[in-house]
Amino acid sequence: MKTQILPITEESFKISERIIREGGVVAFPTETVYGLGANAFDTRAVESIFKIKGRPNDNPLIVHVHKDYDISSLVRCIPDYAVKLSEKFLPGPLTMVYKSRGNVSPAVSCGLDTLAVRIPAHEGAQRFLKFLDLPVAAPSANISKHVSPTAAEHVLCDFNGKIEIILDGGKCDGGIESTVLDCTGEIPVILRSGLVTREEIAEIAGDCGVYKPKEGERVRSPGMVYKHYTPNCRTALYSYSDRQKALDFYNSEKHSGVNAYIMCDSRTAELIDADKILCLGKTELEVASNLYGKLREGERLAELIIAIAPEKQDGVMVGVMNRLEKACGSKI
Ligand code: TXA
Ligand code: MG
Repeated sequence: MKTQILPITEESFKISERIIREGGVVAFPTETVYGLGANAFDTRAVESIFKIKGRPNDNPLIVHVHKDYDISSLVRCIPDYAVKLSEKFLPGPLTMVYKSRGNVSPAVSCGLDTLAVRIPAHEGAQRFLKFLDLPVAAPSANISKHVSPTAAEHVLCDFNGKIEIILDGGKCDGGIESTVLDCTGEIPVILRSGLVTREEIAEIAGDCGVYKPKEGERVRSPGMVYKHYTPNCRTALYSYSDRQKALDFYNSEKHSGVNAYIMCDSRTAELIDADKILCLGKTELEVASNLYGKLREGERLAELIIAIAPEKQDGVMVGVMNRLEKACGSKI
């Protein structure tokens, strides 16, 4: 199979629609990361996503719909706080989990009685979803556990020859995946942190919990437990206060002939004396936006990435740190 990268045009949508209606998959951009989409009503198509990605079959998928789609045909029991949150943040990087009506294939939620729904803000994604007028089940368009894709070339790198079409919507501005929010309880509970922060949710909903699995309990968002986002090279992660230790490690590895790079934000880059730096940018939004691209650049250039965490640890950085820990945690 030859993989084609196509621009966001009606012509590309027509080709993609035919593939999706026939049970195939198409990669498409969103404002967070690229997704690998299939018709959510088609069990065989949804199952093929798991196969192509090598995804564990207990990790449910998100369905993506355009902003005018009637989500009450897919889910039920939408609490008042969820209505308010939708008005404030959608379309946008917030995925909301509700009780499912069981209308999409059970393969989407891996047999759970809930369904995660996302209305992406990316203009190309909105146009594509409107054109299809279908709920599109889509995980991030990367090989399972590899770094998520924030550009069409990243998707090509992971799936060249394995999928037919990648719709190219440019670099994803957001850069880390959507916040996944459980809206089945009294108050919303964050299952996966992301660009919409706990503080922002609590301000609208009055309160917002953060899910932590208790010992022995079935994990509510199974994606959280896996090792994820890992580049194909050695990695290490240091806290901001341990940046000198990170630099010592970098120098000792360099002396032993290892091609090592430091990955940090631009403020930290100014403080340390290293010649090979993967700079994540200045603001928290820049750091989130550049994280996966720099991890992919790092795995191409380096034998070892030594990441230094940003000093700021709240807001969007909660999501960034979650990804950094899973990508670079304790690989050495
Ligand atoms: O930004 C995003 O969310 C991207 C783009 C493509 O939309 N998608 C994405 O999908 O990150 P994926 O499959 O890589 O991550 C989906 C996350 C997983 O952690 C999964 O466990 C959780 O959402 N999830 C999906 N359905 C769920 C459900 N019914 N209950 C709880 N968690 C769910
Ligand atoms: Mg993913």
